[in-house]
Amino acid sequence: MNIRGNKVLLRAIEFEDMEFLRNMLNDEEMEHNVVGWSFPVSKYEQQKWFENQIQNKVNIRFIIEVDGKPIGLATLTNIDWKNRKACHGIKLYSNEVKGKGYGTDAVFAVMKYAFEELQLNRLYSTILDYNVASRNLYKKCGWKEEGVIRDSVYKKNHFNNEIMIGILKQEYQEKWKE
Ligand SMILES: CC(C)(COP(=O)(O)OP(=O)(O)OC[C@H]1O[C@@H](n2cnc3c(N)ncnc32)[C@H](O)[C@@H]1OP(=O)(O)O)[C@@H](O)C(=O)NCCC(=O)NCCS
Repeated sequence: MNIRGNKVLLRAIEFEDMEFLRNMLNDEEMEHNVVGWSFPVSKYEQQKWFENQIQNKVNIRFIIEVDGKPIGLATLTNIDWKNRKACHGIKLYSNEVKGKGYGTDAVFAVMKYAFEELQLNRLYSTILDYNVASRNLYKKCGWKEEGVIRDSVYKKNHFNNEIMIGILKQEYQEKWKE
């Protein structure tokens, strides 16, 4: 089923989204803001990735859509069904869609789905210490900073600290009451 926020829709990735995803992955500013990294991705590689990940139920990725157009990607990865936890990530592509509450709405939609449908108990992620927008976004959504992994991610000639963040189902429920 699709996941509906107040402003965004989270839906499955379609073949037509490949160029959108590839451009987002190849974008320099995006790579600077996120913990992960990749070599330049070709159309062929992008297509192969799509074919390979389609049956993957441990790493789930949703297109974030507004008014029928893709604006980003939200993920639940490393889903651990025994310990009921998963890693969450979010990327909005292009500055025009940022600062409009779509990030907050998408994170809440993912939390609602993870906690109220998938019965997960904990979501976690890591973010770069200099990614102020992301740190503020997750704070706003009720997540806690849980620790620092020093000199963990190398970008632009520097080692950078990674901040571990997480939220428990109970904390989400308390936040939701607000
Ligand atoms: C981080 C990101 C998802 C935020 O999405 P967004 O839709 O712009 O965020 P929202 O509009 O919902 O804002 C939520 C809160 O985040 C904070 N925030 C957002 N943009 C900010 C900025 N440029 N500087 C500082 N704080 C910012 C604010 O506290 C804001 O709350 P407020 O509007 O009540 O002040 C988006 O900037 C993005 O995709 N960035 C690139 C990829 C990335 O960094 N992903 C996260 C990696 S862990």
